[in-house]
Formats: sequence, structure tokens, C-alpha cells
Amino acid sequence: MNTQQRLDQIKADILSQNICPDLAKQANNMVFGSGNPDADIVFIGEAPGKNEDLIGEPFVGAAGKFLDEMLASINLDRKDIYITNIVKYRPPNNRDPLLEEKEAFLPFLYAQLAAIKPKILVTLGRHSTNCFLPGLQISQIHGQPQHIKVTANGTEQAWIILPLYHPAAALYNGSMRAVLLEDFARMPAIITKITKQLSS
Ligand code: URA
Repeated sequence: MNTQQRLDQIKADILSQNICPDLAKQANNMVFGSGNPDADIVFIGEAPGKNEDLIGEPFVGAAGKFLDEMLASINLDRKDIYITNIVKYRPPNNRDPLLEEKEAFLPFLYAQLAAIKPKILVTLGRHSTNCFLPGLQISQIHGQPQHIKVTANGTEQAWIILPLYHPAAALYNGSMRAVLLEDFARMPAIITKITKQLSS
């Protein structure tokens, strides 16, 4: 099985196991993830919003447009990365995902990561960051790579997490926009350093 086939299987598992049936019932589409299945960098958001639910793709609304701008600022685009969310269905009225919803989808996110085998996980916002780094404040650690070991689906995995503020936060707060752009600007050097460490 190649990576795309593994990802297709994980998506089919979410459907056949009827994960979060209440969310699934009111969703137009599952938003599983998109981009390059062989990417070195995986971006992880929180949950789909209205536009994502209608189209079935992550980050296609206003926050996604800003994300595309930030990617372009470091010469990346969607085909260079993979992008997904913790929760794969839109929570009603864009409410925060519940703890039990995040917990229900986490094994499937881990399975996606085990298939893609990225070098860096970029967590967007506190929900995504705290899934990997519980108890840490995003205001304290944004833009600083964190090395963690997690026992995910029965296997110990070592991951490098780069926590960033959520791009939606920048839509309402100009100073947040500047912070996110600064953190993005530091990303190429961080990626180069990590890639060198991993190959030495
Ligand atoms: N916000 C998210 O966290 N994910 C999306 O896909 C869109 C908006």
C-alpha cells in the first residue's frame, strides 16, 4: 500500500467506525486532509468551519487564505505540505471542539501521521498544540520547536512540533498577524536545522 492508499483506508475507518455520529449527522462533508501525502511538514488545525464543511477541504475560508499567504512568504504552497485538523467534522456553529471529540479523532490523526511520516508537525492554535503538548501555553512556546515522544496507537513515536498561533486569530488582531508572519519567517531555518539533525 502506498501512502495515499493508507490515508484512504484511515478515512474509510472513520466512516465505518461511525466516529462522532452527532457531528457526522449534521456535516455536509468529512474534512479528512489534503496536500502532499509524502510531505515533510504536516499542518494541524482544530476543526473544519463552514466553508471547509461545504467543500470538504481544510482551510479554504478566510483563515486558509491567510495561511496560503504565509506559506507563499516562505516559498511554500499547498502541494509542498499536508494539512489536516484534529476533528474531521464541523462542530455546530463553529463552537470549540469538545474534549471527547478531540479524543475520538486523535487515533486517526496519529494514523495519518504514521502513514505520512513527516519531519515536522506545525500545530495551529491551542487546541491542536495542546493535543501534543498538554498544559503548555501557546503564548509561551509559539515559534519554538518542541521535541516530544508519544505512544501513539501502541507505538512510541518521536515528533518535532512547531506550535503557531491559529491563522484565524490574526484576522481580528493585527499584532497577532505580525507575530505569525515572524514565526513563519523563522520556519525555513528551523526546517533546515531539523533536516540536518535527522540526517546526521
Ligand atoms: N480552522 C481550522 O482549524 N481548520 C480549518 O480547516 C479551518 C479553519
